[in-house]
This record gives sequence, C-alpha cells and structure tokens, in this order.
Amino acid sequence: MQRRTEVATRTRTDVHVLEAVALSATRDAAVASHAWVGRHDKKAADAAATEAMRRVLADAPGRGTVVIGEGEKDQAPMLFNGETVGNGLGPDFDIAVDPLEGTSFCAKNLPGAMATIAFAEPGTLWSPGPGFYMDKIVVPPAAKGVVDLTDAPEHTLEKVARALGKRVGELRVVVMDKPRHQGLIARLLIAGAAVHTPAEGDVGGSLEVLLPTGDADLLLGIGGTPEGVMTAAAVRGLGGDMLGRLAPQRDEEADAIRAAGMDLDRIYTCDELVGGDALFAATGVSGGSLLSRPRESKGSVLAESLLISNGEVRRVSHTTFGSIPRVVPGNS
Ligand code: FBP
Repeated sequence: MQRRTEVATRTRTDVHVLEAVALSATRDAAVASHAWVGRHDKKAADAAATEAMRRVLADAPGRGTVVIGEGEKDQAPMLFNGETVGNGLGPDFDIAVDPLEGTSFCAKNLPGAMATIAFAEPGTLWSPGPGFYMDKIVVPPAAKGVVDLTDAPEHTLEKVARALGKRVGELRVVVMDKPRHQGLIARLLIAGAAVHTPAEGDVGGSLEVLLPTGDADLLLGIGGTPEGVMTAAAVRGLGGDMLGRLAPQRDEEADAIRAAGMDLDRIYTCDELVGGDALFAATGVSGGSLLSRPRESKGSVLAESLLISNGEVRRVSHTTFGSIPRVVPGNS
C-alpha cells in the first residue's frame, strides 16, 4: 500500500515537472506565429508556430511521444503523430500539440488565436486514429456528470441550467458558426439560451466554459479531434466535464474510422480521452478575452499564457529580451 502511494505520487510529479517546457513551447509558438498575424497566410503562421514549438520540445527533459499532432486534416505543417521528442533525460510522457489553434483568426488578425499544448502520463492520451472530427459537450465543474451526448439540446440546456442554479434563458452556450450547426443553433435560441457563435476555436470556447472567470456555461457541437483531446486535458485539470463522439464529416473519413475498427457510436468520457494526470498550457497569439497578444516593450517581448496544472489555473506573464520576428512580404 505504501509503495502504491509512492508510485502514484512520483507519476503525478513527472508530468508537472514539464510545466516550464510547456510554457516555453506555447510562448515561442505564439511569438513566432504572431509575426504572421494579419498576413492572410494561415499555413505559414501554422508552420512558424510548429517549428518554434518543435525546437523547444527537442530539448524537453525526458522522452515525449506526440500522440495528437495537428494539421493533417488540411495538409498543414505538423508535429507528426508518433514523433518522439525530448533529450531522454527524464520521464516518458505523451504530448498533444496544437501549435496554432485558430489559424484563420491569426491570418485575419481576429481575436482568439492561441498556441496550445498538453502533456500527459505515457499511454494516457486517446488517439482518434483516422477520425478528424468529433461531437463535443463541455460543461463547468458545477455541471459535472449531468449531461449526455444522446440528449436533445433542449434537454441538455435544462439539465445544465438546473445544475448551475440558473434559468435556461440565462445560459450562454458556445457553438462554432459552421453550416453543420445551423439547426443546433436555431434550437438553442428557440429554447431561450444565448448562443455565442465564434467562427472557429472550440478550445478557446471550452476555456470560456471551464475557467471560473469565463463567459460561457456550455459548449456544444462538432470540432476537430485534436482540439477535443487538448480540451479534455484542460477539463481534467479544472474539474469540469466533457463527452465526445467521433463525427466524420465525409464518407471517406467514416470508412477509414470503421476500417480502423473504431465504433462511430461510442461516447468517450473525459477520462477516456485523457486517462491520467495532465497539464495544459496556452499562450495568446492574436489577443482576445482569454489571453492578450505578444507585444514589444523596451527591448523585450511580453506574452501571456494560461497554465492548467495540478488542479490550478495560473496566468503567466513572460518577458523575454528581444523582439518579435518580422515577416517581409514576398520573402516567406
Ligand atoms: P485550426 O486552427 O487548425 O484551423 O482549427 C480551428 C478549429 O476551429 C478548431 O478549433 C476546431 O476544432 C476545428 O477547427 C473545426 O474544424 P473545421 O473548421 O474544419 O470545421
């Protein structure tokens, strides 16, 4: 019994010793992609973020396996699934990366783009295989355990309202503004909820639900699987709840999922998406209500991050000597 406690304690510490690496990885990715804000080139912005994050991860203490890479669905540059990183001098760990979440926000200089990463105990991150999209529901800690992905949205609203001690008309729901969500958004509005419809960014939308200072009560709808696992790492850290189910958007995606032996009807709990201790970090790229954008001041670059680790949320301000790299149009 004594021994089991020691092992559990050591494993828990192993992930959290990576906090500094997580913050460096998202900070560098954010500063690198910030150079591309407003340049209408989301692939170049994603590439800059990915390369900067890759450089930091190369020196991470230990050996990390990229379980959730990002970019495959639109041929963007990526840290590949299965790629190993780190200097080998420390614990084994799993990594989920989304070096630039909200590539279009960055490209168009709209608020909401951020660099994100999650570290988890080895073997604990769910791999979506060939599944690019999943249906998600994310609720704050007070509504943990009350929702079900098979419920009608009106029923979900009632359950969440009851758990939060609110009326349905007081609920604020985040649903990405996608054609596939038109019916869902209409039903939520008819039921009386307020619906925030960002063009993209369901990790940011989930943080608005999970953070005590956030501006939403519930996130619903279909988004990327990498973003789903990333969100689940934040949910674990903050004690909210999340459910997910693969939701292929094309026949080929559905066929590939079935061929991989995965069940399209299976509903994954948060603990199945991230099955152990995890930490999550994000740094702002294009600004917004959650995180400010990197800026220069007196020969330094200032950046702002969120770190969710050990059940706590910390807001971290980075000050690094130097300047934000410039992009010279035509020379990319
Ligand atoms: P990118 O940063 O990779 O462009 O992802 C943004 C995003 O909106 C995610 O937040 C979301 O999960 C996913 O794209 C939805 O995909 P799609 O835009 O193809 O519907």
